[in-house]
Amino acid sequence: MSTTKVLITPTLTTNIFRAASRGFTISTATAAGLRAGYTALGSLNPASHRNFSVSHKSQLEFFPPPKNLPNIKLTPASWPHPEAREEQLKSIEIAHRECRTLSDKTAYNMVRFLRWATDLVTGYRHDPNKPYVMNERKWLIRFIFLETVAGVPGMVAGMLRHFRSLRRMKRDNGWIETLLEDAYNERMHLLTFLKMAEPGWFMKLMILGAQGVFSNGFFLAYVVSPKTCHRFVGYLEEEATKTYTYAIEDLESGKLPAWQNLEAPEIAVKYWNMPEGHRSMKDLLLYIRADEAKHREIHHTLGNLNQAEDPNPFVSEYKDPAKPHPGKGFDHIKPKGWEREEVI
Ligand SMILES: [Fe+2]
Ligand SMILES: [Fe+2]
Repeated sequence: MSTTKVLITPTLTTNIFRAASRGFTISTATAAGLRAGYTALGSLNPASHRNFSVSHKSQLEFFPPPKNLPNIKLTPASWPHPEAREEQLKSIEIAHRECRTLSDKTAYNMVRFLRWATDLVTGYRHDPNKPYVMNERKWLIRFIFLETVAGVPGMVAGMLRHFRSLRRMKRDNGWIETLLEDAYNERMHLLTFLKMAEPGWFMKLMILGAQGVFSNGFFLAYVVSPKTCHRFVGYLEEEATKTYTYAIEDLESGKLPAWQNLEAPEIAVKYWNMPEGHRSMKDLLLYIRADEAKHREIHHTLGNLNQAEDPNPFVSEYKDPAKPHPGKGFDHIKPKGWEREEVI
């Protein structure tokens, strides 16, 4: 496992289209077939078969080494990750905000349906009462698939609010940047996991299909009811927090031996600014889980607000700064979001 490597060509788009065209010619994609395809993805052990990869090892380098450019020294992250202390990372818990309105119920049922469909295609089962079925490879397949989807809502919502601001010639009151930062953070999760796993063509095909359906569906839904969409993302992040909590529990209980002494990839160490001695796979999962919990808080809060008028409470300055209030970091995290009267 320690030598697992990213085995994707630099031109991912080309690969995806190549994968898609091959996939369409040979696959009659029933649900069972999709799952079988996933299960048959190349193992993380480089020595094992890689029947479902389209990429040749010799041309594979997803992250080419930084070029020695004449003028540019470094391109740092546009949204540096806020500082997160160890006790904050460890205090994150699974939570659920009860449905209070029809809009909440619609959002929650949609998430439950998507969860069922994702479990099916990623071969995910995690029932503590049954014999153990998840392993490192299955977790990574799940993480990668989920993160390609998780990066969509923030970008679509941010874009739509940006257009709305242009169209109506009105201020946005600070929402756009938080939404784009959310999408950026999810993409960093994805890029980190891609340092450890190799999606085969079937997975790329699934990701292509999922993005096509989800991004367009979310776009239309956000035009109709942004409030429901933020609640939907809040519930989706509840599930993400749950997924990473279970993975951490598995790691702690020794069910994932290949991750026991695995170091986090360099991209992660730099992005999260992981301190020396806290750069293990478990630390990485703790950081990512905290990010998901932050998204959960952000979207449940945004779902409580007046979409057209209210300022973004996560970037606002408060009249009484001593009173707990939402912010960018991990102080005062509220798993169920802040109520409107608490922050506006
Ligand atoms: Fe994520
Ligand atoms: Fe998330």
